[in-house]
Amino acid sequence: MPTPSARPTRKAVIPVAGMGTRFLPATKAVPKELLPVVDRPALQYIVEEAARAGLGEVLMVTGRNKAAIEDFFDRHPELETALEKKGDAARLAAVHESTEVAQVHFVRQGEARGLGHAVLQAAAFVGDEPFAVLLGDDIIDARDHLLEQMLQVQAEHGGSVVALLDVGRENIDKYGAVAVEPGGTDVVSITGLVEKPPVDEAPSSLAIIGRYVLAPEVFDALRGTSPGRGGEIQLTDALATLVERGEPVHGVVFSGRRYDTGDRLDYLKAVVQLASERDDLGPGFRAWLAEFVADLPTAGASEA
Ligand code: G1P
Repeated sequence: MPTPSARPTRKAVIPVAGMGTRFLPATKAVPKELLPVVDRPALQYIVEEAARAGLGEVLMVTGRNKAAIEDFFDRHPELETALEKKGDAARLAAVHESTEVAQVHFVRQGEARGLGHAVLQAAAFVGDEPFAVLLGDDIIDARDHLLEQMLQVQAEHGGSVVALLDVGRENIDKYGAVAVEPGGTDVVSITGLVEKPPVDEAPSSLAIIGRYVLAPEVFDALRGTSPGRGGEIQLTDALATLVERGEPVHGVVFSGRRYDTGDRLDYLKAVVQLASERDDLGPGFRAWLAEFVADLPTAGASEA
């Protein structure tokens, strides 16, 4: 049996089968993962993050009405020829970027039975090696290296690693929550997990955010996982099984920049933050934003 560090993580799985109901009517015809965050789909940030961490093989677990995602990661010869003819090198490069960043594969989930069920569809693609799972609602700033750190922790300890964020007790019921061994700082040993617990039953205020590096043993745990919270097969429950079996599950507590695109308000914040930090758009946008904010009635009221 190879040691954990002898099995490097090379593959990433990105579940994209969700219906995106929070963004209706936009998501009636456009998958929520393709909604633009500034000028690129949210999903492109996620694939770029995986590629930066050295995970060049990406599997998207898709569902019905997601064909546009396959088109986005495919070549578009007519568009490329048109841009070439116009001599528009910058836009041509932007179009190429989306297809060249990683080798993207697709599998259909068939039925929407939860995140755990989506991840289980990746079993054949992953095989017997650790793999990453990236959820599309969280964009991690390219200057922070959360996934790289998680890969290092996995190489060191083996087992599985999840990304954690202290979201405060009042918000923990929206997330998978963890119990940890005392004494850890940014790397903690996880002793229990529960999916979206009521606030007064949560083991801590540490929430799982959308990054995982998982041991392939998780597939066996998932196969034995019954529907849990919301009647869905939960990845959190399969990780709890791994902990019960004595397999190592660690958490990396993230303190960097995260942009949540999961609901409309957070999405708006993400667009504003990321646009204001861009080299090309940022200076003009920040200047406009400062004026706009100064003129807002609420800003005026708080000065009074
Ligand atoms: C999923 C997971 C949950 C995790 C969250 C992070 O929930 O089930 O454990 O905390 O992602 O975004 P969802 O947001 O899909 O309901």
